[in-house]
Amino acid sequence: MVKRLLQDLEGRFESLKTPFYYYDTDLLAETLSAIKNETDKRDGWHLHYAVKACANAKVLRQIQRAGFGADCVSGGEIRACLENGFPASEIVYAGVGKSDWEIELALEAGIQYFNVESIPELEVIAEIATRMNRVANVSFRINPNVGAHTHVNITTGLAENKFGIAKEDMLHVIRVAQAMPSVRFVGLHFHIGSQILQMDDFEALCHRINELQDQLEASGITEVHNINVGGGLGIDYQNPDGTPIPDFKSYFETYAKHLKLRPGQRLHFELGRAVTGQCGSLITRCLYVKQAKAKQFAIVDAGMTELLRPALYGALHQIQNLSAGQGTLDGVQQADGDGRQAAVKYDIVGPICESSDTFAKDFLLPETRRGDLLAIRSAGAYGETMASQYNCRELPKAYTTEEILH
Ligand code: LLP
Repeated sequence: MVKRLLQDLEGRFESLKTPFYYYDTDLLAETLSAIKNETDKRDGWHLHYAVKACANAKVLRQIQRAGFGADCVSGGEIRACLENGFPASEIVYAGVGKSDWEIELALEAGIQYFNVESIPELEVIAEIATRMNRVANVSFRINPNVGAHTHVNITTGLAENKFGIAKEDMLHVIRVAQAMPSVRFVGLHFHIGSQILQMDDFEALCHRINELQDQLEASGITEVHNINVGGGLGIDYQNPDGTPIPDFKSYFETYAKHLKLRPGQRLHFELGRAVTGQCGSLITRCLYVKQAKAKQFAIVDAGMTELLRPALYGALHQIQNLSAGQGTLDGVQQADGDGRQAAVKYDIVGPICESSDTFAKDFLLPETRRGDLLAIRSAGAYGETMASQYNCRELPKAYTTEEILH
């Protein structure tokens, strides 16, 4: 496939109102087939895309057509999936705080299973299922108490986190579920965190699951039809053009090598960021360049309202001036040589009334001018889905490659 560089689309972007999200659907197609290559060669492996990463309708449709299921965390996500072609039987539903209407919606639609995070939640699901004359498939989210090398705000598998059921309580909750006529126990669910790049973290999860499976076997529990290991594989924010597709091979091989599945057991993954992250960019325009006492600011028309990650986690996304240069992003961007200085240091900030509305500090860009188009990269996951209307801003539009080119 011919690689299309973002700066080649600058002319097409020029007439569109900024800011907007751009989804490279060719890269998404390649990413999806890279995943399929790994999962299809193994029996019973299946990916339920984590919709929270990007719920854009066009992106969801493409993922569904490629044959993936969905992992949802709200009634709204379940609706988005149903509207965009996912069969209910391919949807799993997690979340520590499921409302009654969300449980009803999931039961009415006939989702594959609930990932249940507490006994009080199990009781409510059982009660609603009884009232609706249904049987709810439930899998328990077990907190494996496995740490991950990632940002503290996106670690989820430690005992101190709010997620899941303590592993010491696993046997008890399964027995409680088995005694409920409106509930069918179907498996176990885990998720240790997000933006994880060290395969030993996933390996540690495999060892923990192996231990838990041994315990279950010793207790005569055989109905563990699904093992769901969640998501978490990270992407290369530093060099999106160098690593547009994450290292799926190492990720899936870690599970193939270390996880001991029982005969007939299905293995489910819930990747989000690794599927869509590198496919999206936030395209914004430079409004002003302001020379302040200590700093030079490039003030752009996108803010934390369109990409919250820098403000929330101190995340750094690469930024490229599409109007002023070419070059890859593994170093400093090269200027075009149209009389601009090759590299100038800017604090790149948005228009929102918060100091944390800063995309990058002391960031080198080719000399940047009012009207230049900038791309904030790796914004395809947790970009559009985390957008807000703070300061009464409009939610921005999103375009796919097909829409930009035609
Ligand atoms: N499954 C469960 C149960 C999850 O909680 C998550 C993410 C995923 C799957 C997908 O994880 P992924 O493959 O995308 O790492 N807003 C943060 C990320 C929060 C992730 C929350 N849970 C960020 O922008 O970094």
